[in-house]
Order: sequence, then C-alpha cells, then structure tokens
Amino acid sequence: MRDYRIAPSILSANFARLGEEVDAVLAAGADWVHFDVMDNHYVPNLTVGPIVCEALRKHGVTAPIDVHLMVKPVDRIIPDFAAAGATYITFHPETSDHIDRSLQHIRDCGCRSGLVFNPATSLDGLRYVMDKVDMVLLMTVNPGFGGQSFINGMLNKLREARRLIDESGLPIRLEVDGGVKIDNIQRIAEAGADTFVAGSAIFNTPDYRATLAALRAELAQVNG
Ligand code: DX5
Ligand code: ZN
Repeated sequence: MRDYRIAPSILSANFARLGEEVDAVLAAGADWVHFDVMDNHYVPNLTVGPIVCEALRKHGVTAPIDVHLMVKPVDRIIPDFAAAGATYITFHPETSDHIDRSLQHIRDCGCRSGLVFNPATSLDGLRYVMDKVDMVLLMTVNPGFGGQSFINGMLNKLREARRLIDESGLPIRLEVDGGVKIDNIQRIAEAGADTFVAGSAIFNTPDYRATLAALRAELAQVNG
C-alpha cells in the first residue's frame, strides 16, 4: 500500500471559525491542510492570502500546510507564503513565465515545490523539471470552486502522471484535487494518486472523524 495522505481543503470550511475547523479536522485524522489561494484573475474566485496561513500557524497548527496557488503572476507571493509557514507551495504553469525558476524559487525559500495541471493542461513540460518538483497536483475539476464533480477522464491522465513519476525514480508525491469523495477515492488511488484533497466531502459532513475513517477504509481496499 502506498503512503497515503488526506488533505482537507479549507475552501469548504466555516471561515468564521477557521482555526477551530482546522483543529477539528486534524484531530479527526487528517494529515495535511490544503490551503486554496484564489485571486479573481487567474480563477474566478477570491479567497485568502499569507496572513491567514500565518494566523493558522500562530493558532498552533503544526501539520503540513499545502498551499495551492491559483494566482497570476505567482512569483511575488511565493516568499510571503514561505514566511507565513507554508510547507508545500504549488502553482499552475500558466501563472509563471519561467516555470523552472519559480520551482527553484519555492525551494530556495525553504518549501517543497509542486506543479498543478488543469484538466486540459498537458503534462508534457513536466519531464524537463522533474528534479525540481516535490509534488505533482492533478486538477480533476476546473479550479475556482469547491463542490464540483470529479472529471472521470482524468483517471487516464493520472495513470500517465504515475508512469512519469515512477520512471523518474524520484520521490515525487502525486496529489489529486477536485471532486474526491468516499465513492471514488479507491478508483483514484488505483490510478496512481497518493495524496487526496477533499473539501466538500469532508467539511460538508457533520462528523469529520467518521468521514475520514470512511475515506481511509476505501484506501485500505486499493488493489495494486
Ligand atoms: C478548487 C480547489 C479545491 C477545492 C476542492 O479550485 O483547488 O481544493 O476546494 O473542493 P472539493 O473537494 O469540494 O471538490
Ligand atoms: Zn486546491
């Protein structure tokens, strides 16, 4: 069995009680905090910035914070998130003029780096920067909103990404974001993912512990 990680997306949390929500989901067994940053420019929605990431750290959150930047241009905000306590910083290739440089910039700031691929974005460029990437994130919805349906055609792309990572021999995580639920997480894992973002599937349920246990029970049944 792969070393799975579940990363609840705060996008579906109650923002009026964000610290408590994050504490609750971590106490319920979540591994990471997925932190969606939207700019109403690259994506049609607006969320939170480094101040909120820093506030979670000051609140006492010690779990990895997985910052998913949907911000264009991306470079200027990278050091701010590093200073705010981000663990991973991932960005979309469309938001950087110099992808290799942005990846290096994230590592130079002391964070782990990641590239995010929209449903229609090709994985082609990935092979040239594999050695600068700690995580590949495949979007399985179009970015901007929680609660959308998983695009099933992405399972083949996930297998392709798994192949590229395995062939590289590098310890790169493969994360999936969008529409991950109890009823599809097993299939997604079987296609090669090891890290699962889930927003509405967790935060829109009354008992986070029961929901996380149900997600893990599905992962325990993964074949291959
Ligand atoms: C979408 C975000 C996701 C979103 C996932 O742009 O990147 O992280 O919160 O939400 P669900 O799990 O509800 O599809
Ligand atoms: Zn996300």
